[in-house]
Amino acid sequence: MIAASFPAPQGNISAPVLAAYGLSKSVPTSIMGTRLLFSGLNLSVRAGEIIAIMGESGMGKSTLLNLLAGLDTPDEGQIEITGQPLSTLSDDARTDLRRDHIGFVFQAFHILPHLTLAQNVALPLLLAGKPAAPALARASVLIADVGLPGRDHDYPATLSGGELQRIAIARALIHQPALLLADEPTGNLDPETADKVLAMLVAATRQQSAALILVTHSDRAAAAADRILRLSATGLSPHAVR
Ligand SMILES: Nc1ncnc2c1ncn2[C@@H]1O[C@H](COP(=O)(O)OP(=O)(O)OP(=O)(O)O)[C@@H](O)[C@H]1O
Ligand SMILES: [Mg+2]
Repeated sequence: MIAASFPAPQGNISAPVLAAYGLSKSVPTSIMGTRLLFSGLNLSVRAGEIIAIMGESGMGKSTLLNLLAGLDTPDEGQIEITGQPLSTLSDDARTDLRRDHIGFVFQAFHILPHLTLAQNVALPLLLAGKPAAPALARASVLIADVGLPGRDHDYPATLSGGELQRIAIARALIHQPALLLADEPTGNLDPETADKVLAMLVAATRQQSAALILVTHSDRAAAAADRILRLSATGLSPHAVR
């Protein structure tokens, strides 16, 4: 289950992969208003480190992950990925950085229905211009690693929600990103499969010396993290164990 296919750690493992300073974000409410989700949010994540972010529904966890991935912009504050401030990058450069260095497991998966599972999983490599044959071969290994061996040529419509979630995780891992952002990656899985998928994410993070930010409602999933943080209006603080 746990892929032997991940390479050894590279680079300076003490450098922060992600640093965020003084982030604030509001979202529009009804016609005129805005609602402040959080302000003064700071976060630093080192290579090889696993952070769990918890917090009530609607607090802004998915919004925060979108900010960290450069898919949305904060109202205030700065985000640096591998030392590069996102705000100084053009849209194209941000897209390149995301494609090359970030793996995102979206809460709603975002698996493309007209591509096979192998094509979906290989997509980050194909978009980066890598040759198709080895990309699809690696996709096949990852699809087996997430417990769906032999399903490479199937289409997403034939999969359950939990199976799609596992394909989304395989896609996030395939290009060995420095930063993995996972939004409730085990939310649709039974406890046994959740444990296996989480073990795979943890192993990939450690072996690739990546940084993993895991948003979860599950105490069990959060227990896999090095640090558990809770999101509130004043930012992230250590999660009090109940
Ligand atoms: N583009 C947007 N426009 C308006 N409101 C938004 C937008 N994006 C998010 N929101 C609101 O911001 C709040 C935070 O949403 P978000 O999805 O980040 O919460 P969450 O903590 O991930 O919740 P959950 O645990 O249910 O996934 C919600 O009230 C949501 O309705
Ligand atoms: Mg969410």
